[in-house]
Amino acid sequence: PAHIPVITIDGPTASGKGTLAAGVAARLGYHTLDSGSLYRVTALAARSAGVAPEDEAGVVAIARAMKLQFAGVVVLLDGVDVSEQLREEQIGAMASQVAAHPAVRAALFDLQCAFRQLPGLVADGRDMGTVIFPVAPLKVFLTATAAARAERRHKQLISKGIPASLADLRADLEARDARDRGRSTAPLKPAEDALSLDNSLVGIDASVQQVVDWWEARLPFGALAG
Ligand code: CDP
Ligand code: CDP
Repeated sequence: PAHIPVITIDGPTASGKGTLAAGVAARLGYHTLDSGSLYRVTALAARSAGVAPEDEAGVVAIARAMKLQFAGVVVLLDGVDVSEQLREEQIGAMASQVAAHPAVRAALFDLQCAFRQLPGLVADGRDMGTVIFPVAPLKVFLTATAAARAERRHKQLISKGIPASLADLRADLEARDARDRGRSTAPLKPAEDALSLDNSLVGIDASVQQVVDWWEARLPFGALAG
C-alpha cells in the first residue's frame, strides 16, 4: 500500500518516541505502531514459556505462536492484558536481547507492515525508517541526552510508585543503547534521509508541532492529512 503515508520516529530508549508518535498521530488522525511493544511482548511470552532470550529458534517459535490483539495502548497476549507488564525494565532489557536475533526480527516483519492503514501511520522504534518503512516520506531521528532520558524514565517509574535509582536507570539505558547500536541486523541509527530532532530541552507540544510542520511541508503527502 505505497499510497498510505507513513511517518517514522526512531531513536534511543526514553527519548520520547512514543509520546511524540501519539501526539503527531492525534493531530493528523493517523494510526500508531509502537514497534518496541512487539519485541517486549515477544520477550514476555518467551519468559512465561521458560525460553531463554539467547535461544533464537525458541524465541522465533514463540513469536510465531503468540496471539496478539491491540486496542489503543492496550496489548492482549493470548487474550490477557499484559500492557503493564510490558513496561517493566527487565522486559525492556530482554526485548533488546531477543531483538538482536535476525530471525526474530524477520518473524515480526509482516505484523509491523500490516499497521500501515489509511489514513496514515506514525511508527516508532529503532528501524522504522531504515528497514520496515524505508520509503516513508518523513523520517525523524529523535534524540535526547542520556541524562535527560534517565531523568524521564525515573519520573515515569516514581509516578507509578515503582522505586528506582537514577544512576542504575542511566547505566541500564546506556547498556541497552550500546547493544541496539552495535548489533549487525537493523542497528539503531538514523536513516540517511532522516531529520534529527534533539528534544532534551524542547517540550512535548513543541516537538509535536515541529514534526507536523515538517509533514505539512512534505506535499503532496501533507495534503492527505488535511
Ligand atoms: O518511547 P520512548 O521510550 O522513546 O519514550 P516515551 O515513553 O515517549 O517518553 C519517556 C518519558 O519522557 C515519558 O514520561 C514522557 O512524558 C517524557 N517526555 C518528556 O518529559 N519530555 C519530552 N520532550 C518527551 C518525553
Ligand atoms: O520504550 P523504550 O524506548 O525503552 O523501548 P522500546 O521502544 O519499547 O524497545 C524495547 C527494545 O526493543 C529496544 O531496546 C530494542 O532493542 C528493541 N526494538 C527494536 O529492536 N526495534 C524496534 N523497531 C523497536 C524496539
